[in-house]
Amino acid sequence: MDLANAAARVAFFDSGLGGLSVLHYACRNLRGEQFVFFADEDNVPYGTKKREDILHFVDEAFAFLSEQNIKAVVVACNTATSVAVVAMRQKYSMPIIGMEPAVKPALLAANGKRVLVVATPVTVNGEKLRRLLANLDAERRVDALALPTLVAFAERAEFSSAVVEAYLRRELLPYKLDDYGALVLGCTHFNYFKDSFRRLLPPDVRIIDGNEGTINELERRLTGINKRGDLPPVPPVYFYSGRRVTADDELRRLEQYMKRLDDMYLL
Ligand code: DGL
Repeated sequence: MDLANAAARVAFFDSGLGGLSVLHYACRNLRGEQFVFFADEDNVPYGTKKREDILHFVDEAFAFLSEQNIKAVVVACNTATSVAVVAMRQKYSMPIIGMEPAVKPALLAANGKRVLVVATPVTVNGEKLRRLLANLDAERRVDALALPTLVAFAERAEFSSAVVEAYLRRELLPYKLDDYGALVLGCTHFNYFKDSFRRLLPPDVRIIDGNEGTINELERRLTGINKRGDLPPVPPVYFYSGRRVTADDELRRLEQYMKRLDDMYLL
């Protein structure tokens, strides 16, 4: 085994703590890798900012990560993917796996009914989603709704409250929910709210995120790149905007997010 390569790590990058949902899925489903998680906590949220500012933030994060013995990066952020993944792939040769709203599986799961994509304003209004829908949604069965306030709720760990539910109820009011067969979580921060969505949607509406597809793609791209093999799993290393997270209270906060994701996992 090439030890130098085997020690190289897989990075997960997000504007904030939404990307933990993708890391959480990877920790459960992808053995033999060591993970680094980078949350750009100084600059979250991205989804309401200008595209050029987002590109700059992502560029800075990648410059930092490229110095951290990384062999692949998962952009665990639909917004950053929409704005910056093409530019990062031009700049770096390592595999860079992006995320986009899981429209294709949702259309298949919706049983001929409509699909609602919820995401940030930047993702909803971006060229990338427009092109995805032009390719996949000839019948115009997909609607897109921006829910930026959910990102703020997630960042302050307000996962399930009357205020969260009232916000979602108000935003979903214009939609005839019985017409829908699937809801796409097109922002990684939205995975924390699966229980509220479940309560508000008719029971046959499938809730679909991009985690499985993203981690399958990561696994494919890592084929041929050494794994740590059978070495015992090691906990992820966390960074907030380039600062290593080591304080006990901060690590406990991250644990609380991971616990929440345990509860949301099978919903
Ligand atoms: N988690 C990010 C996404 O998947 C965006 C959140 C934000 O910073 O606005 O789009």
